Amino acid sequence: MSLAERLGLAIFALTVGVLLALGLGVREAWRVAEERSFEAAFTQALVPLGDQLAGEITQLPELVRPLCQDDPLLDSALVGLVSDDLAARRLPISLRVPKLAKALNLTELTVLTSSGEILGSTSPGRVGQKSAELVTRVAKAPPTAKLEGEGKNLTISAACVKRDEQRTKLWVGVLATRNLDAVLSRIGKSSGVELSLEAPPLSKERLQRTLSLGEKTGISITAARSRRALLSTVEQLDLTVLLIGSATLASALLITVLLSRGLAKPVRALAEQAQRVIHGDPQPVVATGARELVEAAEAFNRAIADLVALRKRLAVTERIAARREIARRVAHEIKNPLLPIRASVETLRRLRARQDPAFDEYFDEATRTVLDEVARISNIVSEFTRFARLPAPQPAAFDVEEAVRAVVQLHGSSGAPLYLRADSVPELVADKDQVVQVVTNLVQNAQQALADRPGGRVEVRLTREQDKLVLAVTDNGPGIAPEMRGRLFEPYATTKAEGTGLGLAIVERIVVEHGGEITAGDAPGGGASFVVKLPLSGPTLLPEAPRESAFEP
Ligand SMILES: Nc1ncnc2c1ncn2[C@@H]1O[C@H](COP(=O)(O)OP(=O)(O)OP(=O)(O)O)[C@@H](O)[C@H]1O
Ligand SMILES: [Mg+2]
Repeated sequence: MSLAERLGLAIFALTVGVLLALGLGVREAWRVAEERSFEAAFTQALVPLGDQLAGEITQLPELVRPLCQDDPLLDSALVGLVSDDLAARRLPISLRVPKLAKALNLTELTVLTSSGEILGSTSPGRVGQKSAELVTRVAKAPPTAKLEGEGKNLTISAACVKRDEQRTKLWVGVLATRNLDAVLSRIGKSSGVELSLEAPPLSKERLQRTLSLGEKTGISITAARSRRALLSTVEQLDLTVLLIGSATLASALLITVLLSRGLAKPVRALAEQAQRVIHGDPQPVVATGARELVEAAEAFNRAIADLVALRKRLAVTERIAARREIARRVAHEIKNPLLPIRASVETLRRLRARQDPAFDEYFDEATRTVLDEVARISNIVSEFTRFARLPAPQPAAFDVEEAVRAVVQLHGSSGAPLYLRADSVPELVADKDQVVQVVTNLVQNAQQALADRPGGRVEVRLTREQDKLVLAVTDNGPGIAPEMRGRLFEPYATTKAEGTGLGLAIVERIVVEHGGEITAGDAPGGGASFVVKLPLSGPTLLPEAPRESAFEP
């Protein structure tokens, strides 16, 4: 994951987290506050209900009582009852009762005698009927009003009796009932609640409380209020949080993109410069932007300079060691041809001193021996010099398949047949001449191992393994001799009469100097296999330290 992506993800996660926490927190706090204030308002609204009901309870008896005290209606009825002269009075009484009920705002008004006969009623059908139950209710009515809840209706009733002074058993009474539904609905409306005797089923849509109207009455009223306003406020809040959240998220993303671009750009530029340095451009890297990047660039430049210096010292040490070894080897190799030269010259001198007639005859042979051995010495010296003076690689991009194909064609015309199998590989950054020398040495070795072997064949394979080029040279010859196995790449290690033993040493040195590696092993069907891996982008170390003068302030 790139720096920009990481940064983007982190800011995104942070923003979402903060938004969620903040949004949900604010929403919840707001919701709780709203609900509390709503409940407070609701409870407040219920206060007048109690007051109004209490007012009704005290008001009704006061309204009814005067009827029994000095109202002509009851006076006339009692006189009729006592004098057994009710017949003429029934009609006016029955006509007056509904009017009176209307004037007093009563739902029901009943006038009856102690015998239970209904003289007048707001329900005209009941006039003339008898009701023992009503007699009990009126006779035993308490002086205060009675609150009753029947089904859906809340009523309040009060009664009074006017007795004959002598025959106290004879009386006429009044039962007044007032339906409080209208009162309930008026109070409910004024306080924004819905009052009812029957509790509606519980619902999330409503806030609901049950009020008991005193323990004696056993009546309770349910007050309900729609929560829709509250819910819509919370919905509004959710919407606002969502909108603000989306806007914040969008701006956070925008800022992230800009910020990460701004941050990643100098890092990318630095990485590109570092890549160039590693692939051989001895320019110091220059960082822009954050202080840490500038410090990193300086550290990188110092590390590269140290590395190059170290490598140079190492190369010098290696060269000294190699020269010593070469001097030792050259001395050893030259000693051998010197012996026949010395012997030839000494013999010539001896024959000459003796004036031996064989002198002329031996002269030719001796000088040929001397010349041959001198040529051998010269050959040895030039081969060794070639190894010792192997120049540093000059890497450049080239078509490696084409170069390898040329080597294969050149050597395929003689010796064991050569086959090239090449995948499509990108251009290789390397010293072309040295790569050609690697292929040549490996191919020559394989062909030499196959000399005189019928059916011998050499396969050169070119593939790619990630960022590496893989060159494999495989033959079906005798394989690597056991005594050569641990020292294949040592200089002068050879099993051939005419060999210098420098071929593989040169190959290894070239490969290593290109930042690659070489391995030797047995081929699957017998024979030897040499596998060379080279970085496609070239040697990974600088030949030179970055020039100080190239540093920018
Ligand atoms: N394909 C091969 N099969 C078997 N043995 C091999 C093969 N390639 C190299 N060798 C062994 O490794 C030795 C060293 O090889 P190297 O190329 O270094 O020197 P050389 O071939 O002997 O001499 P020069 O390269 O100067 O001709 C060889 O003498 C040989 O014994
Ligand atoms: Mg060789």
